[in-house]
Amino acid sequence: MLIGTAVRPAHLSEAAYASTLAAEFNLVEAEDAMKWRALRPDKSTFDFRQGDAVVRFAQAHNMKVRGHCLVWGRDNPDWLMNGNFSAKQLSRLLHQHLARVVKHYADHVFAWDVINEALDEQGNLRDSIWYNQPGIGFAKNETAYIAQAFRWAHKADPHALLFYNEAEAEGLSPKSDALYAMVKGLKERGVPIDGVGLQMHVSMDVGDAGAIARDISENIARLAALGLQVQITELDVSVAVDESGWAKPGDLAQQAAVYSGIARACLENRGCTAIQTWGFTDKYSWIGSHSRHTRGQALLFDRQYQPKPAYNSLLLELETIKPSARR
Ligand code: XIL
Repeated sequence: MLIGTAVRPAHLSEAAYASTLAAEFNLVEAEDAMKWRALRPDKSTFDFRQGDAVVRFAQAHNMKVRGHCLVWGRDNPDWLMNGNFSAKQLSRLLHQHLARVVKHYADHVFAWDVINEALDEQGNLRDSIWYNQPGIGFAKNETAYIAQAFRWAHKADPHALLFYNEAEAEGLSPKSDALYAMVKGLKERGVPIDGVGLQMHVSMDVGDAGAIARDISENIARLAALGLQVQITELDVSVAVDESGWAKPGDLAQQAAVYSGIARACLENRGCTAIQTWGFTDKYSWIGSHSRHTRGQALLFDRQYQPKPAYNSLLLELETIKPSARR
């Protein structure tokens, strides 16, 4: 089983960060270092230094690398967003980006998030620079831009597993129905898609941990039945925190139950091949700034790199699942 986490290259020189990462995980993904904003300081330059640092760490510690992400409406450089490029120019830029980046990492990145978050909360295609603002030439043709990106990525590295990665589509909902219909359509049209990433940024207020886990398991099962792998790509479970960033102990116990429920949902489906958290220490997590510091403590290790109840409950699930229990 792949157990992964997102990492920031700047912290790799911190001893506790590096040793926890190397000891506890066999999969890493760059939290930001392989996004357009990091790789593309200007129109003609590719800066692979940060991404390469992640790959080097993984190689030195026998870990696999997931790539994130090639096509997204966000975390793009200003020169791209404000460049007033025509559809034709954008098509050329995207094709070149995919070819160059995927080839650069071909021997190292085994799976890519080709498309990230193309659907809005209702499950409709989101407006974006790649789709329809102005898009790469398929603005009136729904998922055609997605299919094109997968084809370009596949051409650049026929061995890489190619994923569609999405937020807020973990359990059964109108959005996850739309996601299911979309990837089913892509598969039927012969688009080279290998899997779906379910981000899994969840908040502890979501409700009964058992019910959520059952819902997620059903969703994973139907995606897997299409012949797709499912990977949990950005798991964190945020809890309410006070001004100093502390959560109530009871909340951390309940958080542990949510973690184990989600782990079980993955483990009971053979098609679910990775569980990856979005960072691993509460010292560094995007949840703080994202929630204006009202939420936090979302990860498996505390700020001193001590394992939290969530870590123990996740470990217990991994140790007790029987292969025969996987459907
Ligand atoms: C977040 C990173 O964690 C932050 O460091 C960055 O400032 C913004 O992006 N969905 C995704 C991730 O696919 O790329 C996002 O990562 C979190 C939401």
